[in-house]
Amino acid sequence: MPLYAEIIPETGARELRVVDRTAERRLHALWLRERAPDPQTLDPRTGQRLIEAAALPLDLAIASLDYDATHLHIGFSDGHATTFPVAELLPAPREPRTLWDATLTAIPEVTFEEAVADDTALLTMLEDLERLGVAKVRGVPLEDDGMLPLVARLGPLRRTNWGGVADVKSVADAFDLTMTQRGLEPHTDNPYRDPIPGYIWLHCLSNADSGGDSTLADGFQAAERLRESDPAAFDILTRTPTHFRYVDDDTHLESEGPLIELDARGDIFRVRFSNRTERTPALEPATLERYYAARQQFFSLITAPEMTLTPKLAPGEMLIMDNYRLLHGRTAFTLTQGVRHLRQGYVDRDTTASRRLTLKRQSLPPHFQERAS
Ligand SMILES: [Fe+2]
Repeated sequence: MPLYAEIIPETGARELRVVDRTAERRLHALWLRERAPDPQTLDPRTGQRLIEAAALPLDLAIASLDYDATHLHIGFSDGHATTFPVAELLPAPREPRTLWDATLTAIPEVTFEEAVADDTALLTMLEDLERLGVAKVRGVPLEDDGMLPLVARLGPLRRTNWGGVADVKSVADAFDLTMTQRGLEPHTDNPYRDPIPGYIWLHCLSNADSGGDSTLADGFQAAERLRESDPAAFDILTRTPTHFRYVDDDTHLESEGPLIELDARGDIFRVRFSNRTERTPALEPATLERYYAARQQFFSLITAPEMTLTPKLAPGEMLIMDNYRLLHGRTAFTLTQGVRHLRQGYVDRDTTASRRLTLKRQSLPPHFQERAS
């Protein structure tokens, strides 16, 4: 169907319907008025709003409509008139997200040198990370802070009470189980922080000769399977607030949130799972009983071999993991000689997404760049 638009009379002319080949949308007069793409309403340079949207008359209506294949000309009952490009009024397709399990044959790879030097390679890496929640980098310098030149391409490294890039290796006086030779069950990192670290960068300097494999599971896949197999259990995990806590001599970190967090559309936005630091509040026993049963089902999914990848990092390799989506762990290991030495850093979500979106915009032809802004 070619473009079609109409004022809907039964809404008192306070809604507009726009239809094209791929989408249909009903739009409120106030929404259209406050986003009017003209220099009286939006600052042309920043795109930020100049008028006070909250002060617009609540009974604002659409007084006139005219359109062609690419633009809609709209007059409002407050006397303002504006012109919208059609593309701004129809919903943009969501970025594709690929859920995976153990049948995923390979984690996408990029070389460190390419990702540091070449915007196209960096964009590919960031899009793979967005789509799958994980990407692998080869050829990272075998130095303590070898990852930093690539971190600098995205934004600042997130500093925590453990510093910047931190050691993950077994030591005698471990203050965290990460620093033992014990296997680590699948978890998301640091749900006791606010904000929770967005991405984990795990860089291998040396690995154990036996064991020490990484384990990775797609938490969004596990959550979707739970939603399908037991909607009530899924619902409980989205609504029960769970507490997480980390305390040492000079640190006290606490936060709370559900194990499966949804966005306003009902899509999965984030998973949390950290057996070591979870402190479930003393809810009503009947509520807890349902919560524990649901948590056990989720745990079965995230630990199932058919859901789990077991890559073993070699020296100079690095995994970048979406900490809102992936559960990671490791198998136990034994050191007959040398050390298993990994380095880990955190990078925030907003700066990572910003680099991906700006690189994507810059890769488009000029007239699309304007539309994407
Ligand atoms: Fe971890």
